[in-house]
Amino acid sequence: MDKTLSNRAIFTEGDDNIFVTADVACKAKARDPHVINATIGTLYDEMSHFSTVPLFDEELKKCLTVNGRAYTFTDGGDDFIMGIKHWVFGNYYEEITNKYFTSAVAAPGGTGAIALAERCYANQDQTILIPSIGWKNYEAIAMQASCKSDYYNLFKDDKFDLEGFKEKLTEVAKKEKRLFVIINNPCHNPSGYTLSIAEIDKIVTILKSFTDIPVVLALDIAYFDYEEEEKSRNFFNRFGEIPANFLPLICFSASKTFSIYGLRVGALLAVTQSKEVIDNFRVTASSVARSIWSCPNHHALTAMTNILNNSEKRSQFKQAIDKKCDMLEARGNLFMKEANECGLKTLPYVSGFFITITVKDSDKSLKDLIKHDIYLIPVGPHNLRVAICSITLEETKGLAKKIKDIVE
Ligand SMILES: Cc1ncc(COP(=O)(O)O)c(C=O)c1O
Repeated sequence: MDKTLSNRAIFTEGDDNIFVTADVACKAKARDPHVINATIGTLYDEMSHFSTVPLFDEELKKCLTVNGRAYTFTDGGDDFIMGIKHWVFGNYYEEITNKYFTSAVAAPGGTGAIALAERCYANQDQTILIPSIGWKNYEAIAMQASCKSDYYNLFKDDKFDLEGFKEKLTEVAKKEKRLFVIINNPCHNPSGYTLSIAEIDKIVTILKSFTDIPVVLALDIAYFDYEEEEKSRNFFNRFGEIPANFLPLICFSASKTFSIYGLRVGALLAVTQSKEVIDNFRVTASSVARSIWSCPNHHALTAMTNILNNSEKRSQFKQAIDKKCDMLEARGNLFMKEANECGLKTLPYVSGFFITITVKDSDKSLKDLIKHDIYLIPVGPHNLRVAICSITLEETKGLAKKIKDIVE
């Protein structure tokens, strides 16, 4: 046994198999273009090229100056904070900023934002509540914050399991007298589910029913720009009156929105009606961020800020994303139509990068699919994730039926 490792560094090889499987799939695809590589959560265009935002690339080139190599503000600076609040709150910006105190701190991607939220708002050994089907990295992030993970059941009858959610929160609240809950919405990874307004309202009611303990909601919106504007931002104006014990946090990822996965920019935003809570957020989140990664990627952050704070560039950028959404929607609609026609069972899909199919045995099905040159990602024992973001519409055509014939 290796005694040099810390007690929060408990990983074994293959814990997060996405990159390993994706690498095998990439190599197979390079050998044979007919291979279907639906493994990784990166958007590719209809020419199978990495999907970029040319406006961002132009802006980034302008920012690649020597000044950009200097440290920038840990929180990203006032201009970044203003730009990111405008972008994230979208049409609700005025409503939200008039009613609540809001702030933001830059982070290296959505991963950084979630890690920062936990380090600031979860005690050591506290339980981080995550969805029973969800992004694998949540567990590792919790472990590195010296927290435990526990799971609320995500779906019941193809809808968000509100009862299961309430039960799990009640159980943890009783034991720990604190709650920290992650909800990944819209375009949930890996199902593609997006909550309805009725579900959002019920979730908020449940969270606010714990009146005498601290309740932190971390909304992971990593894929939110791939849902319609209205549905992507509607959670933010459903909080109503926010008591001081309840803190909604928003974890933004620039990876998917700007197609800059490797440039590592994101932000943690807070929404509250308490001046004390927002002041503490600003000081604490900046100080904690400084102690882990010091400051964000200066070049990428400046390019983003220049786009987000210029109304003409912002609307040009929005149009570019809308086109990407249309491309993704066409793939999603086609896959789901054909899955329904051939009876391939999926988790409830609404929009986003992924669709998840249900099988008897995910390991066995994956092996069988790989024999037929189809690479997917296993999600637990009974699900396989199809990354429609990384395959073309042509590759999507007929895929559901092919999968159905192989896995049954
Ligand atoms: C659900 C979810 N949340 C957060 C992230 C974080 O992304 P990043 O750190 O690249 O912004 C990802 C990335 O795959 C994700 O799938």
